[in-house]
Parts: sequence; C-alpha cells; structure tokens
Amino acid sequence: MKRYIPVSRVEGTASRQAHCDLPEGTYEREMSKEGFFGPAAFFHHRHPPTGWTEFTGPLRPRAFDLAKLPAEGHGPWSAAEVLVNGHCRIRYWRLPGSMTRLARNADGDELLFIHAGAGDLYCDFGHLAIEAGDYVVLPRGTMWRIDCAAAMDVLLVEATNSSYQLPDKGLVGNHAIFDPAMLDTPRIDADFIAQQSDSTRWQVEVKRRNSLSVITYPFNPLDAVGWHGELAVVRVNVRDLRPLMSHRYHLPPSAHTTFVADRFVVCTFAPRPFESDPGALKVPFFHNNDDYDEVLFYHAGEFFSRDNIHPGMMTFHPGGFTHGPHPKALTRMFQQSKPATDEFAVMIDTRDALDAGAGAEAVEWHGYVDSWRARP
Ligand SMILES: [Fe+2]
Repeated sequence: MKRYIPVSRVEGTASRQAHCDLPEGTYEREMSKEGFFGPAAFFHHRHPPTGWTEFTGPLRPRAFDLAKLPAEGHGPWSAAEVLVNGHCRIRYWRLPGSMTRLARNADGDELLFIHAGAGDLYCDFGHLAIEAGDYVVLPRGTMWRIDCAAAMDVLLVEATNSSYQLPDKGLVGNHAIFDPAMLDTPRIDADFIAQQSDSTRWQVEVKRRNSLSVITYPFNPLDAVGWHGELAVVRVNVRDLRPLMSHRYHLPPSAHTTFVADRFVVCTFAPRPFESDPGALKVPFFHNNDDYDEVLFYHAGEFFSRDNIHPGMMTFHPGGFTHGPHPKALTRMFQQSKPATDEFAVMIDTRDALDAGAGAEAVEWHGYVDSWRARP
C-alpha cells in the first residue's frame, strides 16, 4: 500500500486554477508526477523558464530532420533507428518502392504511421489500401508487405514485447476521439486473391531479438482464403480523429492519447479550435515532463508552438528538460491570431529514457536548443 504525500496549498500570489488566470506578467510552469495524471505543482515565474542564455550537456533537447534520411533497402528492418529503449523502438523508413520480401516482427506489435505516399498493404489478414495520415497497427507475428508505385515515408514504432491497446476514454466514453467502428481491417478481396501464387518464390524476413532470420517459401504464404477472430491489423486515419478540447481550459497532451503500450503512449495532435475564454492559456504550458521522455513527429500543418519546424521533423525532449512555447509563440499566450490549429503531429511519450540511433544523429539539427534562447 502506498500513496503520494498529500499536499494542497496555495502559496504567495497564485492562480487556483491550473492553466488559467495567471497573475499579471507571469509564466506558468507545471511540475508533475505520472505525466499529467499525478500530483502536480504550478509555479508562476517572472521570466519564461526557457529564457536561458546557454545550455550544455546531454539533457539538451534535440531535433532530427528525418526527411533528409536516405532511402535504404526495400524492407522495414533497414530503416534508420531514431530513438530506442527497451520498450519502444522508433524508426524512420523511406521506402523507395514496393517491398521485395515479406516482413514479420516477432519482437512486438508494430505501429506504422504513413507520413507520405500511398500504397497497398498485403498481409495475413488480406488487402488494405493505405495512404498518408494512416495509423496501421500490425499485431506481432503478422506477415506483411507494401506495394507502392512511388516512394513512401513511414514512421515505425515497435511496442517491444507488448501490444498496442486503446486508452480508457474515462468520462467521455468509448466512442469519443474516434469511434471503434472507424477502425478498418484488411479484406480478402479480388486484389488479395490475385497476388496469391503457388509457384512464385517468396522470402519472409522475421525479426526476433532485433536479429533477422529469412524463411523461404516456394509459394506466396499470404494465401489465406478467410479468417475470423478478435485480433487483426487495424487502420485509422488522423483526419478521422475528433480531438477533445475545452473552450475554457488548455487540455494536457494526455487528452489526445490514441494508443497505449507497455511503458509508452502514442498521442495525436489534430486540428482544434483555440480556447476562447479570456483567462485560459492558449499555448502549451511550460513543464519538465519529469517522468517521461517526449518525442514529437511533425506530420502536416503549421506547428503553432514551435519555430523552424517543418513536416518530417522529430523533436526529442528528455525527461527533466523544462520546455514550453518558443518565444514567438509565447507572444500569443492569451490571444491567438487565428481561430484554430491546423497541425497534425504524432507524440510518443516513454516512461524510460530513449537513446538516439546513429541514423538520427546524422540528420540532427544542432541549433534546436538555441531556438528558445533569450535574445541578448
Ligand atoms: Fe512536453
């Protein structure tokens, strides 16, 4: 039995409502446990907490321009490793054309996020046309390949040794954000039957413990004529998400949780109106995300809290690094110039520290830490 030490205080000049009605001329910073779910404190600072003039050491925030990675090989296992820990493996895959072998991940469920391009997924469960903005969850063990006429860019997120599940939607119920009925599954259709072959040699690259084994068949093993069950590849597109928002309260990123796995979550920022209440904060609050490493992949739109970030980039804020809006965004803390955000971004928050892979380091933008720097 254990519980957090109970404290509930208001000290000095302070607002009693988080993210609202800040004392004149102050900047709010949240320090919290369990992401945004545990006990928290809200400080009212006289300076932006990101107003540093110099920042050195391994805690510095990092940004990677994944759109600059080279296309290497036709399979997912040659994709560049970007950020990795024991529970989550994030890769970026620049697929130049159709896969020439089947893939099977025996290490965990794989989440594909299609950043650019379109194609056809063929897998144990059948055929599914896929396009930019799709999340595709491939249960561990699924055999699959992608056919594409042109190049595709795909963010791969492996739930190492675990499974993707949906978050508990709590007060808003199961059909909020996206209705489970919006999930598409592959079909045993004419295209799927047409790709079956009794005489074409196919190889499967199986990944287990991050090593590859190759299984050769004298036929196409995607030869199911049907299936039934409660487990399948599923797809939902980010344009079909209906994000939660409150006109009077800036909701934390956890309100946008899309998938959960062991020791990490995947959230989606989708277009939503800005808060309209005069006292409500209209930009993300400063915080340290002390219990999580925080990764953001920018898919489309204009990123309202960040300067110099374009689609295809990924930022990495290690737990303990205080961050918040960039100086330009901060000027719009209580008054936005447009009625709504138009950004789509994928956030991956991990409970354990992530390490950057060599592929990511090759496309790092070293000036990112300075993008908050106070003007001298
Ligand atoms: Fe954050």
